[in-house]
Amino acid sequence: MIVSIFNQKGGVGKTTSVVNLSVALVKEGKKVLVIDMDPQANTTTGLGVDKEGDSVYDLFNEILDGKNEKEENEELEENEEDKKTIPEDKKRIDFSKYIKETESGVLLINSESSLSGLEVELVNLDPVSRTEVLKEIIGKLEEEYDFILIDCPPSLGLLSINALVASDSIIIPIQTEYYALEGVSELMNTYKLVKDSLNKDLEIEGVLLTMFDKRTNLSYEVVEEVKSYFKNKVFKTMIPRNVRLAEAPSYGKSVLEYEERSKGATAYKMLAQELIGE
Ligand SMILES: Nc1ncnc2c1ncn2[C@@H]1O[C@H](COP(=O)(O)OP(=O)(O)OP(=O)(O)O)[C@@H](O)[C@H]1O
Ligand SMILES: [Mg+2]
Repeated sequence: MIVSIFNQKGGVGKTTSVVNLSVALVKEGKKVLVIDMDPQANTTTGLGVDKEGDSVYDLFNEILDGKNEKEENEELEENEEDKKTIPEDKKRIDFSKYIKETESGVLLINSESSLSGLEVELVNLDPVSRTEVLKEIIGKLEEEYDFILIDCPPSLGLLSINALVASDSIIIPIQTEYYALEGVSELMNTYKLVKDSLNKDLEIEGVLLTMFDKRTNLSYEVVEEVKSYFKNKVFKTMIPRNVRLAEAPSYGKSVLEYEERSKGATAYKMLAQELIGE
């Protein structure tokens, strides 16, 4: 199952959810690959991996170079009927160097800051192809994993669109605070646009309420508001505001490794079980 964690609003708990849900799924015995599509690379560092070298940016470039070469060769063939094709084994991409093992058992294709330049490079492709590069990459990998989780950047650009086109479903984290639903209509427009034209099978896996504070009335009001908008799409599991969740990334660990008995760890374990149980 390929799931994007998607919300263009910043700081709602996307990365925290990708890191901790992925580790919780591994603890449930699942084989999990995480792809960090955010140039901020917080998922990468949160899982204890260096944000440089053989990143998802390099992998995209290898695919894009392959496409250019193919085009050039096709032109050659047309023009000169000269069949100068590249030998198969030269074109084959070695994915293993891009897939990093983390201490938690989660496998990761890391990000790096230069990933932000990718949007500009993708524009050279035709309008459909530029949205399908990640799908092409994942197509070669998906059989090996029970779950592939993709962390999206806080934007609706081509990096996020690539993630949505490559996914079976999306998880939408929503912070339990004032203006929780701000930006949700743009988010839903993008989701519908992708579903209508690029990926008909894209589903909403669930809406995840994050940073829930049981001491405030506001939290309960927001939960009701989100439930009345998304109906039965809201996960039963809510993620509480928990300081351990905020501390864990500075140790390059998930909260499940950093403080297994914390409320944050328990919540993400429950979320993993809810996701598997569906
Ligand atoms: N349940 C929680 N309890 C306490 N702090 C949290 C919780 N979830 C996230 N945080 C903290 O809130 C901040 C934003 O979280 P996070 O980075 O996961 O959001 P994001 O949606 O990935 O942000 P961005 O849009 O910038 O990628 C981080 O400092 C994180 O540690
Ligand atoms: Mg993030």
